[in-house]
Amino acid sequence: MTLPSEALIRASMTAARGMADRNTPLIFNEWYVAAFGAELDRDLLKRRILGRNLVMFRTRAGIPVALDDRCAHRSFPLSAGRLDGDTLVCGYHGFRYDAQGDCIEVPSQTRCPPGIGVRKFATAERGPLVWIWMGDARRADEARIPHQPWLSSSDWARSQGYFALAASYVTLHENLMDLTHLSFLHAGSFGTADYARAPYEAKLEEGHFTLTRRVVPTRLPPVWAQPTGILGEQAARITTSEFLSPGLHQVSAKFYDQSLPADRRHEFQIRTAHIPTPESQASTHYFIVHGRDFALEQDEVTRFMHEQLFEAFQEDVVGLTALERVLAEAGPDAYEISVASDGPAVAMRRYLKQRSDAEHAAGRGVRPEGAAG
Ligand code: FES
Ligand SMILES: [Fe+2]
Repeated sequence: MTLPSEALIRASMTAARGMADRNTPLIFNEWYVAAFGAELDRDLLKRRILGRNLVMFRTRAGIPVALDDRCAHRSFPLSAGRLDGDTLVCGYHGFRYDAQGDCIEVPSQTRCPPGIGVRKFATAERGPLVWIWMGDARRADEARIPHQPWLSSSDWARSQGYFALAASYVTLHENLMDLTHLSFLHAGSFGTADYARAPYEAKLEEGHFTLTRRVVPTRLPPVWAQPTGILGEQAARITTSEFLSPGLHQVSAKFYDQSLPADRRHEFQIRTAHIPTPESQASTHYFIVHGRDFALEQDEVTRFMHEQLFEAFQEDVVGLTALERVLAEAGPDAYEISVASDGPAVAMRRYLKQRSDAEHAAGRGVRPEGAAG
């Protein structure tokens, strides 16, 4: 039996203290995706984000609104009330709120006392996504929303999906930053045996971590071999995994037939926006948008790729849920050993920890629950 030396265990535990994990307080001053735009309409949508219950809807003009899901009167969930025009009427005693979260009517009296309201959160719709800012309202700068034109460009065909993940968003980010698991966790779907050993390049910048892995030559799994027609052992598969913010990770891949001369190769591109929004420290809304720049008009290709890919993403969900349970039950003497290929993920987790520490040392920057803002 080989167990790590005391010195290695101590070093691992010291390193872990500088990395975000499932116990690290969540980061509030950041844009996260609250919903797909397609989820929001004139029905009330209840959703918990960063440990806070929200009610969301669209105004008659189509503007997304997100309010605290707790009536200022006696805490009835506003999501159990009803929309009346652009106002939200509480289902308990009928207090009426406008789309700013301000109370404009108290049915039991002729005049609504001033200064009653619930917090409204800043939202911004970009392509298929509705982003939300849960932190200090004064810092909600839309210019900080990661800009990804392909998410709404007609040069890309897209499909989207969602998983309710019973695991921390930190482990999801780490999973996405680590391409070595494809050969194992995804052995039956889009992983190939040569993937884990393929050469890679990492680029680590403040808040932006990139890992590129070149698997050349290889055989493409059916999800890409079939729609691209690159069926043999001479395919090139070059994948870049990119942490763009605590709320967005993007994987881009290109494929070509490397047996063809360079000037006759057609490059096929795919992209996947992996979008983790913490529901709580131990659960995550996992939104996904997948796109391709070929066979744009072919709905059967969209269906085929969607089915195959979401089967693979389901493998991550199952794996991370199992991992979360192990960590939840692990004792204080548990430790994890990192290896060289974990470098980008470790850097990313150190960044998340620093963001969390900075925010929570300074006070969370969030107004007290229920305060208007
Ligand atoms: S709890 Fe909402 S009106 Fe009383
Ligand atoms: Fe995976």
